[in-house]
Amino acid sequence: MQQSISSLLYEGKAKKIFTTQHQDECLVFFKNDATAFNGKKHAEVEGKGSLNCEISSLLFRFLESNGIQTHFLDNQENCWMLVQKVEIIPLEVVVRNIASGSLCKQTPIPPDKVLSCPLVDFYFKDDSLGDPLLTEARLDLLGLVSNDQRIELKRLALEVNGLLKDFFKKIDLLLVDFKLEMGLNQKGQLLIADEISPDTCRIWDLNAKDPQDRILDKDRFRKELGGVREGYSEILNRIKGFYKGRE
Ligand code: TMP
Ligand code: ASP
Repeated sequence: MQQSISSLLYEGKAKKIFTTQHQDECLVFFKNDATAFNGKKHAEVEGKGSLNCEISSLLFRFLESNGIQTHFLDNQENCWMLVQKVEIIPLEVVVRNIASGSLCKQTPIPPDKVLSCPLVDFYFKDDSLGDPLLTEARLDLLGLVSNDQRIELKRLALEVNGLLKDFFKKIDLLLVDFKLEMGLNQKGQLLIADEISPDTCRIWDLNAKDPQDRILDKDRFRKELGGVREGYSEILNRIKGFYKGRE
């Protein structure tokens, strides 16, 4: 590895963040741990860390090439990513194109309904509270972001959605929904942070007819469908195939 680790800064359910000798950079280690339902379900999925690290790196590079600022700096060895150090805004910004997951549990909207325009939901990032969904008024009350920042987070999330949705379509994948985390670097710039991977997105195979076979993301784990690593590998292979085809 080109960078050397200083100390563990933070350990989450799927990643560990380490400081490096450069105070504005961190190293992210992607773990094989898979969790769902706020950590109640847990397993090790061999190879997941490396797949998520590679997929995230390629998607961050793709966003950067389209003018979106992210914390991504470089791929290191297997499972390791070098990133800019950011102060994470404790919000999970979810964009939904198709109704699935919690949206269908909490509203009468049926699964698979194509939403007339993408829905942006803000959640408070706090495991002890179960990452609750926030109303705009509660978001204001918490004072985590200013009104202008909230508008910017939403705009950015929708821009990322447009870019990713079109990109995935080119490789016969459907972006159902996804979660973003954002943070401020030491210059105060707003960056897309964390990861963008099948752990944090719902991605369906447009070539598969069967409603279970089409699932390539962490829903395979949540729903006990098996083939988690195979789903993630398929996504990675399609992304790589896209870039190979353009060489
Ligand atoms: P949801 O339907 O459970 O609200 O999830 C929406 C999207 O957000 C889905 O793509 C999975 C992702 N997500 C995370 O990345 N982390 C989480 O903790 C949760 C609950 C969802
Ligand atoms: N990442 C969350 C957890 O562990 C939830 C999920 O992705 O479903 O618990």
